Amino acid sequence: MNAKILVTGGLGFIGSHTVVALQEIGFNVVVIDNLSNSSIEVLEGIVKITQQRPTFEQIDLREKDAVNRFFEKHKDIDGVIHFAASKAVGESVEKPLLYYENNLSTLVYLLQELKKKPNANFIFSSSCTVYGQADELPINENAPVKKAESPYGNTKQIGEEIISDTCKIESGLKAISLRYFNPIGAHPSAEIGELPIGKPQNLVPFITQTAIGMRDELSVFGNDYPTRDGTCIRDYIHVMDLAQAHVEALERLLGDKTETNFELFNLGTGNGNTVLEVINTFQEVTKVNLPYKIIGRRKGDVVAAFADTEKANKILGWKAKRDLSEALKSAWKWQQKLSMGKN
Ligand code: UD1
Repeated sequence: MNAKILVTGGLGFIGSHTVVALQEIGFNVVVIDNLSNSSIEVLEGIVKITQQRPTFEQIDLREKDAVNRFFEKHKDIDGVIHFAASKAVGESVEKPLLYYENNLSTLVYLLQELKKKPNANFIFSSSCTVYGQADELPINENAPVKKAESPYGNTKQIGEEIISDTCKIESGLKAISLRYFNPIGAHPSAEIGELPIGKPQNLVPFITQTAIGMRDELSVFGNDYPTRDGTCIRDYIHVMDLAQAHVEALERLLGDKTETNFELFNLGTGNGNTVLEVINTFQEVTKVNLPYKIIGRRKGDVVAAFADTEKANKILGWKAKRDLSEALKSAWKWQQKLSMGKN
């Protein structure tokens, strides 16, 4: 299998793990990253794990001419996995135009290049955020898309619409949108993992930074929700499982197995865990004490979200194999390695 795959945002958290998974089964990978929210050292982590160096192009996808030049140079790209995007919900509220530009103009430029090809395969990083607070749990792919709570969430909804509209008239284009639940964890080697810049907004990096002593304590956002212990429920999925799902989606596209030229899949474990369950599991598996306090609710948080995994299981042939303990252990190993490097 020597198909040539472009991975945009390939030095980011999910992107880097996917590059590893692709290289391990023989894909020829080209990475584009503008390093705005990642580090060139991630490339060395990928090389250490796979003993292969992906082609790397430092390109900002907002530069339409640069995107065009890239595709002129790499005419033989067989598929694109598009991770490159901004993802901080709070920042998107402060800087909506930055988010619309980063997440949507880049998508348009890529699709404009792909439509020139007789055949093109495209995978889009979407999010369960498109469902908002779903009326039914677990959430399946037919659940309605709810009005977005933030510009970030809106870019995922509009992004899917842009792809869907394009697929309607471009019969040579096949696309799959993957709606991730809550990706956590790191490669078991701890050569790559999540690299939050500044204060982490997401739960697990905040937990590991608190456990290592970088933060005084974790704030738990609300314990008065209608759940088993009052804290919110999410579907935490190991990034290694998520990476594997991209491989399955790509093989589905390359093998011409799609039922329609735009498909959607939820990617989660199917299990929901509360914030307190995550904290307790972390303490159990690492034997590290985690100081935390309960504070008020965070604006925009949904009470509970976890995936109905049936469509991904049956049609994509993919299932998450790793549990919460394994994911938290790997996140902790990664945090320890990161902090050692800094001392
Ligand atoms: C968040 C985004 C979501 C985005 C995803 C990307 C919001 C409202 N949602 O998902 O749109 O797709 O990140 O990764 O920002 N928590 C704490 N203390 C913390 C951090 C989090 O208690 O310091 C709780 C949250 O209230 C939530 C759970 O932990 O219940 C998970 O939070 P987080 O990791 O931020 O993910 P989401 O909010 O699900």
